[in-house]
Parts: sequence; structure tokens; C-alpha cells
Amino acid sequence: MRNSHAVLCIASLVSFQGTFAHPLSSIGNMGILNNCETAVYLMVTREWDFPVRILDPGELYQERYQFSTQGGTSMKLANSTDDLQNGKNQVQLEYTCTDRCYVDMSLINNDAKFPGHNTTLSLRPSNSSCDTLTCIAGDTTCRDAYFIPTDDHAVRACSLEASWILTLCAKPLTR
Ligand SMILES: *[C@@H]1O[C@H](CO)[C@@H](O)[C@H](O)[C@H]1NC(C)=O
Ligand SMILES: *[C@@H]1O[C@H](CO)[C@@H](O)[C@H](O)[C@H]1NC(C)=O
Ligand SMILES: *[C@@H]1O[C@H](CO)[C@@H](O)[C@H](O)[C@H]1NC(C)=O
Repeated sequence: MRNSHAVLCIASLVSFQGTFAHPLSSIGNMGILNNCETAVYLMVTREWDFPVRILDPGELYQERYQFSTQGGTSMKLANSTDDLQNGKNQVQLEYTCTDRCYVDMSLINNDAKFPGHNTTLSLRPSNSSCDTLTCIAGDTTCRDAYFIPTDDHAVRACSLEASWILTLCAKPLTR
């Protein structure tokens, strides 16, 4: 899967800042909001897998964009640590930042349609000039997520200053 097993080199933010002249303080965040009624499990992967975190209902996880020269970050979400470790029934949020941040969500390994049938996944930028990506978890015809590795039409980009939030179990009206 994209980015999941890439060997990455993390470029220091200092050298990044020098290259692109973006002050560190203006760099945005990638976030995940668990709007579901039960806890979900999160594993962040860059050059290695970080320890699994539990996101309680209503909890927001955010990290300032991390930069790498050979790939990006994959944030895997599932309903159990087993599913995370076995790479199944999961939603992946992926991002890669260079001069902009490229983001996508992947439902490739999601046979169980986590986080539940007919729940909305919404990936929203803070900058309203950039696109919002929205899918129903089980809708394999949704063009806003990867279902096969060539679904590159599901990638969006926004500026480094913009932040994104993926909402699990978003209310349709708040997409
Ligand atoms: C996780 O699994 C439990 C047990 O099947 C289910 O009740 C719950 O709704 C699931 N949570 C999510 C967010 O999918
Ligand atoms: C999902 O929504 C569709 C359309 O409203 C409905 O026909 C279907 O039964 C729902 N599926 C589940 C599992 O709730
Ligand atoms: C918002 O996005 C537009 C279009 O990509 C870009 O031109 C603009 O600079 C962005 N604004 C901020 C504050 O990032």
C-alpha cells in the first residue's frame, strides 16, 4: 500500500525551513477526530510503526506535519489492535508533504467496512479553497478514497499552512 512500508528519511524541519522558507510556526497539522460511539485504535507509520494509541469517543489526535524525503506518513485506524497488526478492516489516512501536503484516505483493506456500514468519513481542510473528501465507509464506488492502488484520483493537495481533519462517523450534515 502507498507509503505503508516505505523506508523513509525524515528531513529535519530546520533544513526544510531553509529550503522552502516556511516558518515552522505556520506549518499545519494532520488530525483525526473520533466521532464514533466507541474507541478506535490508531497506528502511525513513518519509517517504523509507532505504538498504538486509543482514541476515545470525541477525542482528536493531531500532529504537526512531518516531512520526509522518501515517502510519507500512514495513519491506520481500526476497531482493534489485532486488525491494525493484521492490516485488515482499516481506514488509512496518508499524507506526504513537500512544497504542499498531499493527502488521501484508503479503504483498500476494509472488508468489514470499518467504522461501520453507512457511516461517513470526511477529510476536511482548514482552507476552504481546497477540496473536502467524503465517503460512506462501505461505498466502494466512492471516488474520494482508494479502493485499488491506482485510485490516484483520490489524492488532494493543500498548502503547508492548511490543516486537515479526518472525522470518523461524521454526521452527514457536517461533512
Ligand atoms: C467496534 O466493534 C464493536 C463490537 O463489534 C462494535 O459494537 C462497535 O460499534 C465497533 N466500533 C466501531 C467504531 O466500528
Ligand atoms: C445503508 O444505507 C442504505 C441507503 O439508505 C440502506 O439501503 C442500507 O440498508 C444501509 N445499510 C446498512 C448496513 O445500514
Ligand atoms: C488556501 O488555498 C489556496 C489554493 O490552494 C492558496 O492559494 C492559498 O494560499 C491558501 N491559503 C492559506 C492561508 O494557506
